[in-house]
Amino acid sequence: EKAGYDHFMIKEIHEEPGAVRDTLTEMDDVMRVVKEIGEVERVCFVACGTSYHASLVGKYLFESILGIPTDVILASEFRYSARALTDRTLAVFISQSGETADTLNALRSANSRAKTLAIVNVLGSSATREAQHVLYTRAGPEIGVAATKTYVSQLTIIYMLVAAMGAPELIEKLEKVPAIMEEALGDEDNIRALSSHYSNVSDFFFIGRGFSYPTALEGALKLKEITYIHGEGYAAGELKHGPLALIDDGVPVVAISPPGPCHDKTLSNVEEVRARGARVIGVGSTLDEALRKEADDFIGLSPEVDEVLSPLVYIVPLQLLSYYVSVERGLDPDKPKNLAKCVTVE
Ligand code: M6R
Repeated sequence: EKAGYDHFMIKEIHEEPGAVRDTLTEMDDVMRVVKEIGEVERVCFVACGTSYHASLVGKYLFESILGIPTDVILASEFRYSARALTDRTLAVFISQSGETADTLNALRSANSRAKTLAIVNVLGSSATREAQHVLYTRAGPEIGVAATKTYVSQLTIIYMLVAAMGAPELIEKLEKVPAIMEEALGDEDNIRALSSHYSNVSDFFFIGRGFSYPTALEGALKLKEITYIHGEGYAAGELKHGPLALIDDGVPVVAISPPGPCHDKTLSNVEEVRARGARVIGVGSTLDEALRKEADDFIGLSPEVDEVLSPLVYIVPLQLLSYYVSVERGLDPDKPKNLAKCVTVE
């Protein structure tokens, strides 16, 4: 059932273009749900882990494109933060499994105070029965403990939601994503080769600004889960407020820098870490000569992908990087120690 792949994780990464394509077929459902929900003054995303990172992208989209104030709360922290939910608040619960205890508990407590929407991959799961509104990601079953294709499907539904709530021009851009992802997957041999330089390091940093900040966090989470290497995601501008003290000779820094308004500032951060000896893995447009020049290793992606769309595409090489580092270290990426696919305890 691994269809010739060594692990479910790599099979599922290869299924990402199809997962985005299938999720895009849900547009009519998204439009229906947006109509049913009615007026929204605030949005509040609630989720854990990878689904939390998808939610962070949601915040950048809702605020920068729709101008709707948006909070993102870890489900396990939801009860400790006194939030003023009202009947004009849309509380969005994102969960691959639809069974995560922290997320379900938060959903239960929000149901009487706000409009609730669950974005879920598993049909008929608890979250789909308890939320007022439901949207499905069409990623198909995900076996690997590390979320991969379900992350890009969650992002796709969030973009579609934003499109339906007032930014229809996003749809045309989204339709190009599966083909661009296929191109990114075509660079697998390069990523496998460069992974071998990083299998013995003890720390990794991932940096990005704006839409690339959640990508940095998600890249670091994947690395931790399946390679057991300490990985930290940072907003690139935060480096100088502390973590720069940890940058030393040979410390790998993955710099996520798609074309767009944040690009030049991220590039200055790359220069800062290089000056302190970091080994930089640049992830940017194939046409980005400046980043390529600063980087020790370079992963090039389609120049068509701008910052707004980048979370969907730039995560693909980071998942591949973690996968190949894990394999290089002789680990089983499908079954990381201490972790379960579905966390049903608080
Ligand atoms: O099923 P959920 O999306 O609610 O799960 C949330 C997290 O437990 C999950 O994303 C976890 O962080 C993954 N192992 C990440 O790869």
